[in-house]
Amino acid sequence: MKFAILNGEIIERSEAKVDVEDRGYQFGDGVYEVIRVYNGKMFTGTEHMNRFVKSLDSIGIVLPYTMEQLTKLLEELVAKNNLQLGTIYMQITRGVAPRNHAFPAENITPSLVAYTKEALRPLESLKKGVKTIVTEDIRWLRCDIKSLNLLGNLLAKQKAAVEGCFEAVQHRNGNVTEGSSSNIYIVKNGVVITHPSDNLILKGITKDVILQICTSNNIVVKERTFTLDELANADEVFLSSTTSEVMPIIEVDGKRVADGLPGTVTRRLQEAFEQEIEKQCGALKDKTLN
Ligand code: PDD
Repeated sequence: MKFAILNGEIIERSEAKVDVEDRGYQFGDGVYEVIRVYNGKMFTGTEHMNRFVKSLDSIGIVLPYTMEQLTKLLEELVAKNNLQLGTIYMQITRGVAPRNHAFPAENITPSLVAYTKEALRPLESLKKGVKTIVTEDIRWLRCDIKSLNLLGNLLAKQKAAVEGCFEAVQHRNGNVTEGSSSNIYIVKNGVVITHPSDNLILKGITKDVILQICTSNNIVVKERTFTLDELANADEVFLSSTTSEVMPIIEVDGKRVADGLPGTVTRRLQEAFEQEIEKQCGALKDKTLN
């Protein structure tokens, strides 16, 4: 039997149902997080919690639990579901109210839902790399909020899927922003370049880990915008996310990146990223470079 969290309680997953007038369901009026679990332990759990609270703050939802309570609930859920390797999905919406665009006048209780999913690490792709397409970034101007409104992201991802590609690299006026569900990096002459964490992208937790790894390994990293032209002429390209970790990109719009093999800086980052996972969550059975 699997369990889920519904409004602060752990219940049978099949019993976890939401009201038709939940504002998350009707408007996407809420925010979410996806947290990776390795060896039954949350990876960068605190960082995800902090971002969750930041997203909530930006749309004026007050978390009806302390961070400690919520973290404890998630840990209980992971244990009850006997999750070793997988993800936690967690979302909070403004709550249930008669449908009206403006926020409800009365204070309503935000709805919290969380559940777990078993998920292997994408080792094959991590070893070989993935293909991508390029598409225009048609999303709103607050991509820093991890909002439930993902239509722009979904349309981009679907374009990639139709082309048999793993991810869509989005751009605004020729400047690469991020993937539909990942951050994007290029490497040129040994320097790692990625879009600054402003309102046009989601400040990835994985991105933060990668930036720290670069600094502690003397890999020069620059947070600045880069163009589609720079993307096409990069020595290496990779993406990052909670579920994809440090993923080499070997093709962009049908054109090979350099020689079409994952690059050396990307490999170094993958290795260091796995070490960080092991530091926080214990030994990994399979590694990218084995
Ligand atoms: N996606 N940018 C976007 C638009 C994302 O949706 C994500 C994550 C990231 C990377 O963030 P992080 O490193 O914190 O996972 C960047 C998650 C995994 C998802 O929606 O499933």
